[in-house]
Amino acid sequence: MSRFTIGLALAACLSIPAAHAQDAEAGKTVFKQVCSICHEVAPNKNRIGPTLFGVAGRKTGTVEGYNYSDGNKGANLTWDAATLDRYLVNPRAAVPGTKMAYGGLKDDQKRKDLIAYLTTLK
Ligand code: HEC
Repeated sequence: MSRFTIGLALAACLSIPAAHAQDAEAGKTVFKQVCSICHEVAPNKNRIGPTLFGVAGRKTGTVEGYNYSDGNKGANLTWDAATLDRYLVNPRAAVPGTKMAYGGLKDDQKRKDLIAYLTTLK
């Protein structure tokens, strides 16, 4: 192996930790910063938005006692990771007519971390 090849192999190894996977702990921080003004994570606790307890795998608009918009209620989606990702990057595009007054989380890593955290809420 030439020095050049070794250098390349080393560079490839070193670059792996930089692209870190989903991190629920980091996602919790994101949640506290951007979502917790409107959402609780405990069961049956609705605020401006419905509780996000058990959101992963839940159908849109099904939290009891929460007064959804027609857009959210009629969206007929299941909140899996892919749907959450599409929604959180641009809520109004994914659920037209939603009353969630949030423009979207554009940072891919933060969104991944946040979704990892949301799936722990059960
Ligand atoms: C300014 C307040 C506000 C902020 C900030 C906010 N939301 Fe919401 N959210 C709402 C409201 C209000 C609804 C209900 C939407 C409707 O009925 O149209 C909602 C709905 C949702 C839903 C759909 C729930 C369901 O049962 O169908 C999800 C998922 C959600 N929000 C996640 C988040 C996440 C994650 C964040 C942080 C990135 C966030 N929201 C930030 C107010 C907010």
